[in-house]
Amino acid sequence: MNFHELITKRRSRRKFSNQEIEPEKIELLANAALMSPTGKQKNHWDFILVQNKSTLLQLAECKTHGSKLIAGAKLAVVVIGDPTISDTWIEDCAIASIYLQLQAEDLGLGSCWVQVHKREHNATYSSESYIRELLQIPEEKNILSIIAIGYPVDEKNPFDKHNLLLERIHIERF
Ligand SMILES: Cc1cc2nc3c(=O)[nH]c(=O)nc-3n(C[C@H](O)[C@H](O)[C@H](O)COP(=O)(O)O)c2cc1C
Repeated sequence: MNFHELITKRRSRRKFSNQEIEPEKIELLANAALMSPTGKQKNHWDFILVQNKSTLLQLAECKTHGSKLIAGAKLAVVVIGDPTISDTWIEDCAIASIYLQLQAEDLGLGSCWVQVHKREHNATYSSESYIRELLQIPEEKNILSIIAIGYPVDEKNPFDKHNLLLERIHIERF
């Protein structure tokens, strides 16, 4: 599969089988995250790899909507950045997140981005505070996302090039 085929095939997967992810694949995923570029090469990110079932179930409750899928994942990667070190922490963590998703796809795994930054756990508590407390993340660090990963069981169509939003491509001027 070349890169174009990979990005054509990648879709968000939210249902996962019971098959465990092989340790070699987890190592490749971790390496992919660590090879993602950061502004001024600050490398301020941290990644928490969660496989413990009860922690996955707790992470699945981090938001009111859109996080339940973590409960069925075999791995959740919590993507953390440090705004005290870099003003591009969001961009850096977003790049690391998509690296994880593309590496997962290349390994025959499925993944879904679960947004954490600026999301709420409930009326009084942010998703970030909830996860910070659960995983003992230092106060100065921020959490951008959780990438849920596993062997997918849901069927998803690849992108169809005939349906791409070609009108969003502008030549020479807007
Ligand atoms: C920044 C960002 C935040 C997202 N947050 C969530 C989320 O919290 N929960 C979820 O189920 N999907 C989330 N997604 C997945 C999107 O819903 C999905 O990528 C989009 O619908 C396009 O579908 P595709 O990934 O299959 O191409 C997020 C994706 C991105 C890029």
